[in-house]
Amino acid sequence: MSLENQYKILEFADLGDERGNLVVIEGEGMDIPFDIKRVFYIYGSDAQVVRGQHANRETEFLMVNVGGTSKVKIDNGFETKIIELNRPGMGLYLAPMVWKDMYDFSPDSILLVLCSKHYEPGEYIRNYEDYLAEIKG
Ligand code: TYD
Repeated sequence: MSLENQYKILEFADLGDERGNLVVIEGEGMDIPFDIKRVFYIYGSDAQVVRGQHANRETEFLMVNVGGTSKVKIDNGFETKIIELNRPGMGLYLAPMVWKDMYDFSPDSILLVLCSKHYEPGEYIRNYEDYLAEIKG
C-alpha cells in the first residue's frame, strides 16, 4: 500500500479571539475519522530521545504538538516520510500498521496523541524485523 494512503495532515479550526486561541478536534468522523477512546501526551523528551519505534495492528492515531515541536518519521516497510509537527492546529493522522519514530523534541514539546483504541500491548509490534515480516507476508 502507498504510504500516501496511510497518513493525512489535518488542519483544525482555531476559534481564537482576543482572549487567546482555542483549537477544536471533534471525533467520530467530524475532524478526525475515529471515535476517541484514549488520550496520552508526551513531554520532557529532548532532541536526543527517539520514542515510538513501533507499529500498531489496530489503533489509529492523531498526533498534535500542542506546544513546541517534534518530528515523526513514518514507514510502511516500503516508503518513509518525515513530518514536522510545529503548530497546535496541525494534526498527523496515522492509519494502523504504520511504523513510527518520534524524535527531535524541542524542550517545550508537548505531543498530544489521540487514539481510536484503548491500550492493548498485544496489538503493538515493537520489533522492526517482525513488522517487516507481517507487512510483506
Ligand atoms: P511507549 O509505548 O514506550 O511510549 P511511546 O508512545 O513513546 O512509544 O510506552 C511507555 C510505557 O507506557 C510502556 O510501559 C507502555 C505504557 N503505556 C500505557 O500503559 N498506556 C498507553 O496508552 C501508552 C501509550 C503507553
